Amino acid sequence: MPACAKILGVLMVVLTLPMPAALAQGPGLDAAGHPWWQHAVFHEIYPRSFADSNNDGVGDLNGISSKLGYLKDLGVDAIWITPCFPSPQVDFGYDVTDYEAIDPMYGTLADFDKLAASARQHHIRIILDFVVNHTSDQHPWFLDSKSSRTSAHRDWYIWRDGKGPQRPPNNWTSTFGTPAWAYDPTTQQYYYHYFYPQQPDLNWRNPAVEKAMLDTTRFWYERGVSGFRLDAVDTLFEDPALKDNPPAPGTDRFGRPATREIYNKKLPEVHTALKALRTVADEYHAVLIGETWTSDVAQLREYYGEQNDELQLPMDLLLNGLPFSASVYRQHVAAVDSAGGWPVYVISNHDITRSYTRYADGRHNDEIAKLMAAFYLTLRGTAIMYYGEEIGMENNDPRSKEEVQDPEGKLGWPLEKGRDGERTPMQWTAGANAGFSSGKPWLPVPASAKTHNVSSEEKNPRSILETYRSLLAMRHHQAALLEGDYFSVNSDDPNVLAYLRRYQDESILVVLNFSNQSQQAKIDVPSSGYISLLSSGATLDNGYRTISLEPFAFYIAKLTK
Ligand code: GLC
Repeated sequence: MPACAKILGVLMVVLTLPMPAALAQGPGLDAAGHPWWQHAVFHEIYPRSFADSNNDGVGDLNGISSKLGYLKDLGVDAIWITPCFPSPQVDFGYDVTDYEAIDPMYGTLADFDKLAASARQHHIRIILDFVVNHTSDQHPWFLDSKSSRTSAHRDWYIWRDGKGPQRPPNNWTSTFGTPAWAYDPTTQQYYYHYFYPQQPDLNWRNPAVEKAMLDTTRFWYERGVSGFRLDAVDTLFEDPALKDNPPAPGTDRFGRPATREIYNKKLPEVHTALKALRTVADEYHAVLIGETWTSDVAQLREYYGEQNDELQLPMDLLLNGLPFSASVYRQHVAAVDSAGGWPVYVISNHDITRSYTRYADGRHNDEIAKLMAAFYLTLRGTAIMYYGEEIGMENNDPRSKEEVQDPEGKLGWPLEKGRDGERTPMQWTAGANAGFSSGKPWLPVPASAKTHNVSSEEKNPRSILETYRSLLAMRHHQAALLEGDYFSVNSDDPNVLAYLRRYQDESILVVLNFSNQSQQAKIDVPSSGYISLLSSGATLDNGYRTISLEPFAFYIAKLTK
């Protein structure tokens, strides 16, 4: 390694990528005996906002089909499509009226089959979003359930008498800002809904409900789907005695007195339901990803299951609330890495402010976005990207209550502005409506679409998009990144997070400057030198002994023996 080797911009070694061995309905293990989902990079698509093929302002399945080439080039192995089933769209699809059909707004089952066939050709798997906790209040099950106290589906939902006139059964609150009980004057009982009143909770204690839900997963597995992201699994069960939740200090995000949700969240029975879903998934080599709002890393361990027989990929959403800091991330990654299963990392989704906006410092925004990519795409674990993260899309929050579409924002304004900001149309070009649609998009495109869009970034080798592409290509080629164990190095450095990924006799070093100051990192590992794979803003000095990092720079290299 020559002294003062300068690493300019983003530089990498690209090898030829073998096609993944296992595809939908194919073998569950790859040639090296690893389950396919450990190596896959997932891409979350919010179908309303990804690509609009019929120019009605709302994205659709044919739009997704038209972008599979883009996704493959990016390095995506699987797409998770948020709910595209028939729905009154009160919660934009998370209120389902038929689990085995496609909402006409997104297309037809035939369009889905075309998408699945084309995805197979592109070696991209499809994961659907399964809303297991609740249905729409317009679902035929609920319409029957509320029709009389003796209807066939009455016990498919949670119905209870109130404590008296205008007095619901207990003090539980909905996470969207209303009481959690809605009164039905026809049958004179209350039904329970953790989310909107239009999203009644299913009664998972009823075996008929469990059977219907398991059958739904089979329906989609038979159509070639490779797994599910299970929505809101924390809230599947409630205490049968409906005990009041105890008070907690302060107020919630709607300004209501806070409570500790111990009687309507994370009940032990959740694990029985997850095991049942997993048993069916295993028949199809499918993966179950969980929307798991854990409050500590120990809870992740529970979601893997004692025998690793529940969720293969319970999302670690805690990471998103942590301060942006090398020391904090080091500690957190070590905990997640040793939580007993295969980690899964996510830095944005359709419910939380985009990572670009969360971490931006106003001066180094793009560098920070690249650093975050270099971080979560090189950890030991599966990565789930959110559409547009790869081009540095930022939040575009509503400016007034009238603009808000998300009912959460309508109910919570101004304390809670809702989630429209992170759901805006994908930015394909610098042209009208960011190339998403020639109709008026359902949510407005931010001004930053002029600079942060696929077409412009493809032309710039230092763009966020090209950094993502390079990182993903590297990740697919390097066994140490796919399989390697995680070892923290220079563990006392408060500014630079550095680690090794080691597999057999290969080691890859990742060095990340989480500070807004230049840093000199002397890496404490035995090695005769580095083969640089990819970097942004980093230089090697004193032979390979010191890595000079500009603010928020990263450096990735293979160690030589
Ligand atoms: C999950 C979804 C969210 C939805 C909620 C109710 O948290 O991610 O978007 O509103 O469930 O289904």
